[in-house]
Amino acid sequence: MKTVYTDNNATTKVADEVIEEMLPYFGELYGNPSSMHTFGGQVDAKIVEARQRVADLINADPEEIIFTSCGTESDNSAIYAAIKAYPEKKHIITSNVEHPAINNLYKQLQGQQGYEVTFVPVDEKGRLDLDLLYKSMSGNTAIISLMWANNETGVVFPIEEIARKANEKGILFHTDAVQAAGKVDIDVKKINVGMLSMSGHKIHAPKGIGVLYVKKGFKFSPFLVGGHQEKGRRGGTENTVSIIGLGKACQLAKETLPVMNTIVRELRDYLQNELLEKIPGSSVNGDLEQRLPNTVSIGFDAVEGESILLLLDKEDICASSGSACTSGSLEPSHVLMAMKVPFKSAHGSIRFSLSHYNTKQEMDHIIATLVPAIEKLRAMSPFWKDGKMI
Ligand SMILES: Cc1ncc(COP(=O)(O)O)c(C=O)c1O
Repeated sequence: MKTVYTDNNATTKVADEVIEEMLPYFGELYGNPSSMHTFGGQVDAKIVEARQRVADLINADPEEIIFTSCGTESDNSAIYAAIKAYPEKKHIITSNVEHPAINNLYKQLQGQQGYEVTFVPVDEKGRLDLDLLYKSMSGNTAIISLMWANNETGVVFPIEEIARKANEKGILFHTDAVQAAGKVDIDVKKINVGMLSMSGHKIHAPKGIGVLYVKKGFKFSPFLVGGHQEKGRRGGTENTVSIIGLGKACQLAKETLPVMNTIVRELRDYLQNELLEKIPGSSVNGDLEQRLPNTVSIGFDAVEGESILLLLDKEDICASSGSACTSGSLEPSHVLMAMKVPFKSAHGSIRFSLSHYNTKQEMDHIIATLVPAIEKLRAMSPFWKDGKMI
């Protein structure tokens, strides 16, 4: 059997249609879109089309789309634009389960520039403490930045409600929709969000291309200062080929959204339910309802995630664990720790993130591999005895 790829929240296969769309622009159509000649103009016209396709995915206007180099740059640009727009406001709100693209920037701002940052906690299912979030909003808040969906657990925050509250208080709201794009319906006009980040490589476009949506009317200061590209909002010659690929990927993502919410969701649920039934001492991390259709994070008591991944890898199955190896010790992820997942199952947590390329046969291969793998590891584990964790 060929590689079973269930690590789509890490990155995705570039769709064949996307590669096809990009190929001419690697070759004969290499002009600079800013050039005055017709040769460059052909590339510019294709970028105009790509911008429209990206805008269509989230119901934005094309001039509200800024192309960046990745989701991280989009996130950083949004935060810096907010603090430049409101220099007198020294308070920022976020959650304690954000991606490092947000988290680490806030820690830096907190340390170096005297910002007070409220890291709103989550409960044991990864749901945001909305009471605390709303109480934290004040006239001194420069920006609220919250992820639409969590990369590890797939838990989805109630972005529409939060955006409404932020708007009522006149606070700028940014959402990191890197994991949500292409998996949930996004309508920026309906939710009235100020800024929104996306990343190409999570939706079957190449790595190294991102998007920042900036609502019309917001005084946006560029993060990368340079030429007139992107209407002066992001300097640097455009990554033309990837932008063209991203445009195609967004068009495809819009078409495959119904598949995500039916076939992919059913495959995910099948995998999840079979594993829970066949493996005692296993449980899902995160809310079962408010969750991306493609993601499941399962904790297996008394085993180590890295050992599970190695056994899966031997069978050509790609997934990821909820741990990060830091300074010689294996720390469970900050997301699972924030959810207060017990240490011994947080350590044995595996995330499967599917795409529409996955099949039921592949899910059966994972189940057939994982059930004996966990039994084997538990036979050696000092924390597992007589069919339960000790
Ligand atoms: C929620 C979230 N935000 C931001 C990023 C960063 O995106 P990029 O890899 O394009 O910089 C990721 C990547 O995994 C992510 O999952």
